[in-house]
Order: sequence, then C-alpha cells, then structure tokens
Amino acid sequence: MNIIIAENEQRFDQIAAWKIIGQMLSKPESLIGLSTGQTTMNMHRIVSEIYKMNPFDTSKVQVFNVDELINLPRTYSGSCYAMIKSQLCDSLNIPEEHFIMPPTFSEDFELECKKFDQALEAAGGIDLQMLGIGWNGHIGINQPGTPFESTTWVSPMDPIFEEKVRRETKVDENYYLGGLTLGIKNIMQARKVVLIAKGRQKAEIIKKALQGPVTVDIPASVLQLHPNCEVLLDTEAASML
Ligand code: GLP
Repeated sequence: MNIIIAENEQRFDQIAAWKIIGQMLSKPESLIGLSTGQTTMNMHRIVSEIYKMNPFDTSKVQVFNVDELINLPRTYSGSCYAMIKSQLCDSLNIPEEHFIMPPTFSEDFELECKKFDQALEAAGGIDLQMLGIGWNGHIGINQPGTPFESTTWVSPMDPIFEEKVRRETKVDENYYLGGLTLGIKNIMQARKVVLIAKGRQKAEIIKKALQGPVTVDIPASVLQLHPNCEVLLDTEAASML
C-alpha cells in the first residue's frame, strides 16, 4: 500500500481530485467508481472546477457509485445517484448513459445486483475505485462481518448512517432501508483503488485498517492485500499511524 499524507485539507482535496482527473486523462475510456460522503464532496467540486477552467474529453469516460440506497427515490437528495449527478456528472458533461447505477426500487434486487456487476464488466471492468471509509471500517456499505468473497449485494446500513437517513426521509423503522453495494470481491478486482480519509475522527479506524490484522471485522483492512492500492490521508487521519 502506498500511503500519501497531505499536509492540510486543501492539499488533500487537490491530490484526491487529481487522482480522478489523472485517470480520465491517461485513459479517456476509463470506468471509474466513485464514493459519496463528506470526504469526497470537495474532491468532486475541485474536479468540476478544473474541468470548467480547462475542459478535457469526458465523452468516453464511464462512472458509477460504489453503493446506492434502496427503497428511497433517486430524487432524495441523499441518494448516491442524486449526489454524484449533481456533484460531478452534470458539471463534467458525462452522458447520462455513461453513469451506470442500479435502480433504487425493484421486485428483485438479487437480479439487479447481478445486472449491475454485468454492466460494470461490460464497461471493461473497474479502472479506478475511489473509496471512503466508515467509522467502523466499512467500505461501500459492506459492514463488519461481510465475507471477502461477497459480490454486489444489498447490505444493511451502518446504524448511525441509517438513523440519519431515516430522520431526513421520515421513513419509519418498519420499512427496510439498505444499501446496494459492490461486494468486497468486486472492490478487490478493481485495477486500482484509492482510499481517502480525513479528520481526527478517522484516525483510529485508519490505524486498524492499515496496520491491524486483515479481518472481516474491519472491511477496509482487506485493502492491505490489494496489489495496487493507494491511501490518501490528511495529517489528522494519519495521526495514529
Ligand atoms: C457512507 C458511504 C460510503 C462512504 C462513507 C464515508 O457510508 N456509503 O461509501 O465511504 O459514508 O463517509 P464520510 O466521508 O462522510 O465519512
């Protein structure tokens, strides 16, 4: 694992943004997996700003998000579809058909997961997967305990995140909310993975994920086994290493 430590948040966001731009420039027909959350928001904004100042060819690039909330409409501002579309696809003029996402409602999510995997494969396989990390070490929505052999599936959400979503959408507890997520196996098959984390609140989990044992209890620890994984941290997230 190649670990990069940015000296401040601004530098962190710039380096992260250039991971995406660099991929798009070096292989214009790349398939790039994105990730939503606080950590990636600024990175997406900077990618958009750089594109606006200096447009490059985005007509062939294909993107998707590593996960999506199910049983909520795509129009919900917290859906990954809505976030990636507004944060990146619209500003980069990525054609709608090059934004590969699963539906949020379905009678058969098992089938939708298979179709999603097939669509990513048909698009050439994942060139770059950008990943955030949850407070409990989750990647995508794969919570602690998820087998490393898992392929795209519907996972329960991180309980803290689920509570936030329920508050925002006013969906009551009897109604199942989950997340369709790339499995650990799919993530490990990406040609390149970049894990990014900033802030002191991520320091402990980063230490466990990068320097602790590789275990299903800390899903991100599997990345220690990835042949081409970079980790970008700010000094706070790196403070316990
Ligand atoms: C959610 C997303 C993950 C993301 C994580 C980190 O759980 N499903 O893909 O990596 O949040 O979010 P944040 O960057 O806001 O800490």
